[in-house]
Amino acid sequence: MTGKFITIEGSEGVGKSSNIAFIESYLRDVGKEVLLSREPGGTRLGEAIRTLLLDTDNRGMCSDTELLLIFAARAQHLDEVIRPALAAGKWVICDRFTDATYAYQGGGRGIPESRIAILEQWVQNDLQPDLTLLLDMPVAAGLARARKRSRPDRFEQEKQVFFERVRKAYLRRAKEYGARFRVVNAEPALARVEAQIRDILDAILDS
Ligand code: TMP
Repeated sequence: MTGKFITIEGSEGVGKSSNIAFIESYLRDVGKEVLLSREPGGTRLGEAIRTLLLDTDNRGMCSDTELLLIFAARAQHLDEVIRPALAAGKWVICDRFTDATYAYQGGGRGIPESRIAILEQWVQNDLQPDLTLLLDMPVAAGLARARKRSRPDRFEQEKQVFFERVRKAYLRRAKEYGARFRVVNAEPALARVEAQIRDILDAILDS
């Protein structure tokens, strides 16, 4: 018995939190055992690494340190949480995963994909999400929403061009890995976004 691994991706302010809550309750309502987690984070160690990554005092962190910390957190998350949950038949919903690394550290920071792929292979072996929902909307609109919320973290402090590269990298991956990616237009009102997500979930529940 194995569960399904669903990841939710998108640039800043695309509404991941509300939509993840919707996905969780939709799957629970049809009787699935759901485990909700996030990256970077999801374990005690991973959350400590997350704090380092988001802390604006760590402005001097070089891109390779950032990349390695993200994969260190991911290795722990896979070992302690994701693999055991999938093996127990749970549906794991993860707020961001390795596509975020290709988008932020690859697209945003400019680290070559080939270097990210080495670490991906190292910590994941062949594990990939069964479904990746990419919540997509124009960068400026997302940033306006995100910046209203709270004091910006180390990533949110980046300029709009950074997030334009992030979005482009996400969309490129969605095209390249079309079998597991679904792009959701996150711009309309929540109910219309949820309707798109419901259709996608119904398809995977029927498969
Ligand atoms: P969050 O805003 O979704 O909570 O994620 C925290 C930040 O971490 C977000 O700005 C994106 C960033 N991030 C990366 O840069 N690379 C990654 O691989 C992951 C998982 C997140």
